[in-house]
Amino acid sequence: MTTSRSRTGNGLTKAVIPAAGLGTRFLPATKATPKEMLPVVDKPAIQYVVEEAAGAGLSDVLMITGRNKRPLEDHFDRNYELEQVLRDKGDAAKLDRVQESSDLATMHYVRQGDPRGLGHAVLCAAPHVGDEPFAVLLGDDLIDPRDPLLARMIEVRRRYGGSVVALMEVDPEQIHLYGAAAAKPTEDDDVVNVSDLVEKPSTQEAPSNLAIIGRYVLDPGIFDVLRRTRPGRGGEIQLTDALQALAADESLSGPVHGVVFGGRRYDTGDRGDYLRAIVRLACEREDLGPEFREWLSTFVNEEM
Ligand code: G1P
Repeated sequence: MTTSRSRTGNGLTKAVIPAAGLGTRFLPATKATPKEMLPVVDKPAIQYVVEEAAGAGLSDVLMITGRNKRPLEDHFDRNYELEQVLRDKGDAAKLDRVQESSDLATMHYVRQGDPRGLGHAVLCAAPHVGDEPFAVLLGDDLIDPRDPLLARMIEVRRRYGGSVVALMEVDPEQIHLYGAAAAKPTEDDDVVNVSDLVEKPSTQEAPSNLAIIGRYVLDPGIFDVLRRTRPGRGGEIQLTDALQALAADESLSGPVHGVVFGGRRYDTGDRGDYLRAIVRLACEREDLGPEFREWLSTFVNEEM
C-alpha cells in the first residue's frame, strides 16, 4: 500500500487545465486567437482559472494545449519590454497588472496532438503528474473566488480518498449539456457518494439533474482507467466514462464523491453565456461596477 503524503491527498500541488479546444463557437474571434484568451472584462478567461488553482494552493499548473495556442504561453510568461516601458513611465499600477499573470504559478505545457476528447487530454498529463492526486479545471467554467469550491474538494479527497467531482443542480432540460451523476447523501451536507455517471444524457436517460461542472480532484489511478477507456459520446474518450468505471468499482482507485456547489459559477462556453458572464462580473467589480450598473439599468429601462 502506498502511504506517501501526496497519495493521501495532503500534498496536492498540481493542476491540469485542458486548453486544446478549437473554440469554433466563437469564430471568427478564435480564428487566430485561442478562445481561452478572450477577455472576460479585462482579463483573459484562462487567467481566472489559473488564479483559482493558485488560490487553492496548486502551485504547479500544466496546460494541455495544441496548435495555435502560443499566446497562452506568452500570457503567463514575463514581457520584459512592456515591463520596462511601464517602469520608465512610472506606471506602477499597470506594471502590477502585467506581472500578475506571470507570478501566479509554475507553468508547464504539453501538446495534445490529436484532439481525441477530454479524457485523452487528461491522459496527456500522466507523465507530468506521476503518482499524485491532482486537480483538473475546465476553462469554460469560472468559479467566483468568494465561493472556494476547489479547496473544499481537496478537503473531501483528504477525508474520503479516491476522486471528487464538482456537481451543481441544473434545470433537467439542460442536463444534456453535462455529465450527470447518480448520487447518495453522506453525513456531510454538501458531499454525495457518486454511484453512476453518464456523459450528456437526454432528460429521460439522466440519472438526476446533478451536473458535473468543470472541476475535478482525481486519484492518479484514473490514468490506467483512461488508457483502457474506449471512445464514447461524440466518438471521444470521455473523462466521465473513466470516472464512471471508478465509481462502479472502488477497488480500482477508491470511491468517487461529489461536492454539490451552491455558489456563483459563470459559464463562458458559448456566446450567450459569455456575454452574461462579462455583464455579471463587470457589475461586481469595485472599480467598474458602480458606473456600469447605473448605465446598465438605464439601458435596460430605456432601450429594451
Ligand atoms: C465537459 C465534460 C462534461 C461536463 C462539462 C462541464 O463537457 O465532458 O461531463 O459536465 O465539461 O462544463 P464539455 O462542456 O467540454 O462538452
